[in-house]
Amino acid sequence: MPKKILVLNGSPKKNGNTAKLSCWFAAGARSKGAGVEVINAAFLKYKSSGCTSCRTCQKIKEYECVINDGAKAVLKKMAKADVIVFATPLYFYGPSAQLKVIIDRMFSLYKWDNTTDTFESPLKGKAMALLLSAYEDIGLDNVKRSFKIIADYSEMKFFSLLVPNARESGDIVKLKGIRGKAFAFGKKIASL
Ligand SMILES: Cc1cc2nc3c(=O)[nH]c(=O)nc-3n(C[C@H](O)[C@H](O)[C@H](O)COP(=O)(O)O)c2cc1C
Repeated sequence: MPKKILVLNGSPKKNGNTAKLSCWFAAGARSKGAGVEVINAAFLKYKSSGCTSCRTCQKIKEYECVINDGAKAVLKKMAKADVIVFATPLYFYGPSAQLKVIIDRMFSLYKWDNTTDTFESPLKGKAMALLLSAYEDIGLDNVKRSFKIIADYSEMKFFSLLVPNARESGDIVKLKGIRGKAFAFGKKIASL
C-alpha cells in the first residue's frame, strides 16, 4: 500500500524556506509512490486561538475535536495518515505558533484513562517527521527533542531534517545540496 503522508506547514511565508523544504520532501516521497498532502496551518480558518481545554473530546467516542473549524478536518486527516510531517521555521527557539495551534488541538486524538494511566490513540504506530529551518544554528536540537518526546509518548517512530543557517525566507535555495537532502529524506520516509 502506498504511504499516506500529511505535511503540516507552519510558516506564514507562502514561498519561504519551509514551503520549499516541504515541496522538495513531497517530491521525494511521491517519487517512491507515496500520496502526499501539504496543508498550510497558517492559512486555516480557526474558531478558537488554540485548544480551549474543554475536554469534550475525552467524553465522546470519536477521536475528534468538537470545535468545528479548519483544524478539525486536519486532525481527522492526521488520524488517517501513515506519516505526519511537521514543517516549521524556528520561532524564538520553538515551532511557529501557527503550527502549535494544531499540535495542541491534537489533544482530541488521545483518549486517556486516568485510573490506569494509559491512553488509546490512532497515532500509535504511525511515524512523525520534523522539517525545521532557522536563520542561525542555535536551538534546533531543543525543538527536535520536544517533537521526539511527543513521538515517543505517542508510540510513533521519529525522523527529522534540521536545516540551520537557512537565513531569511527563500534563502534556503542558496544552501548547497539542501534540495537533494530534502528529496532524499522524502524518499526515505515514503519507504519506511
Ligand atoms: C518571528 C520569528 C522568529 C524567529 N526566531 C528565530 C530564532 O529564534 N532563531 C533563528 O535562528 N531564526 C529565527 N527566525 C528565522 C527563521 O526561523 C528562518 O528564517 C526560517 O528559515 C524561515 O522559514 P520560512 O521562510 O518558512 O518562514 C525567526 C523568524 C521569525 C519571523
